[in-house]
Amino acid sequence: MSSLLQVQDLQVGWGNKKKFTHILDNVSFTVKKGEAVGIVGESGCGKSMTALSIMGLLPANIEYDAGSIQFGSTDLTKLTQNEMNKIRGKDISMVFQEPMTSLNPSFTIGNQLAEAFKYHSNYSKQEIREKSIEVLKKVRVPDPAQKLDVYPHNLSGGLRQRVMIAIALACNPKILIADEPTTALDVTIQAQILDLMNDLRQTEDMAIMMITHDLGVVAETCDRAIVMYAGQVIEEATVEELFEAPYHPYTRGLMLSAPQLGELKEKLHVIPGTVPDIGSVTKGCRFAERCELATNLCREETPQLEEFDNERKVRCWHKMT
Ligand SMILES: Nc1ncnc2c1ncn2[C@@H]1O[C@H](COP(=O)(O)OP(=O)(O)OP(=O)(O)O)[C@@H](O)[C@H]1O
Ligand SMILES: [Mg+2]
Repeated sequence: MSSLLQVQDLQVGWGNKKKFTHILDNVSFTVKKGEAVGIVGESGCGKSMTALSIMGLLPANIEYDAGSIQFGSTDLTKLTQNEMNKIRGKDISMVFQEPMTSLNPSFTIGNQLAEAFKYHSNYSKQEIREKSIEVLKKVRVPDPAQKLDVYPHNLSGGLRQRVMIAIALACNPKILIADEPTTALDVTIQAQILDLMNDLRQTEDMAIMMITHDLGVVAETCDRAIVMYAGQVIEEATVEELFEAPYHPYTRGLMLSAPQLGELKEKLHVIPGTVPDIGSVTKGCRFAERCELATNLCREETPQLEEFDNERKVRCWHKMT
């Protein structure tokens, strides 16, 4: 598979020349054509910031500091907002966690789909209507023609998320970034949306970047996983390899802390402590404070992301094998 998106040594943060705080620190990974990559990690580790960097939607106080985001022959970090507008929603689309805040409550579903088509195509009104119905069918919204005249608040959470996915799919993106697309939904609806995403990936031939704190979601939908911790990539592997034998103690902790069927009565493993504040760890491994394998080396020297066979990577002085 050829590479579609290449994030290389990306540094993103805020501050001034005197003091600059990196929220993303040397983040590197690749998404290949048609592949599903999971970005996983606890709250605050930089998953959404990674997505927003790719979309060119960084908050006003945050800036690119170094590194690149290569999409084809273009470095997305170098584009103006106008240039980025042409790519966003067309080649790269994003679905956000909370469908109610990303849909506009005062416009019908039809209006909002039409916006997505109008911006990137020259379709007539009639063509836009046909395309809108077609894309709602793709995401399995029942009675799609009738739904065009409905407002977001008249739809259930699951249907709103399907509409969000439809809007993201409108212009046949090459990559769909889904930031916690099912977190706000009931478990049964979650499963339906993940199932839909899996199917779309096959039929639409697009890559998916699935952002989640839930390793179960990664297992169900992804080919490869990137594990992030405190603004850094700490492990990367195929999903099979990762679940068979995680190299990083943090990944292992994440796995042990996920509830498994049949083990519900037993006490769940808890990773002690919390993710350190961004910028607070100035030397050594960022996970050292919480790691049962940590030694003086870990507290003093920063481990680099080391590459092994089959693009497998880990950032740890004492990798578990
Ligand atoms: N506008 C901002 N200015 C300064 N720091 C910010 C800003 N937005 C986010 N951050 C910080 O950046 C870090 C990464 O945030 P991010 O939203 O990417 O985390 P996340 O992994 O998506 O977490 P979650 O699972 O809770 O969504 C956090 O420590 C957060 O406090
Ligand atoms: Mg987030």
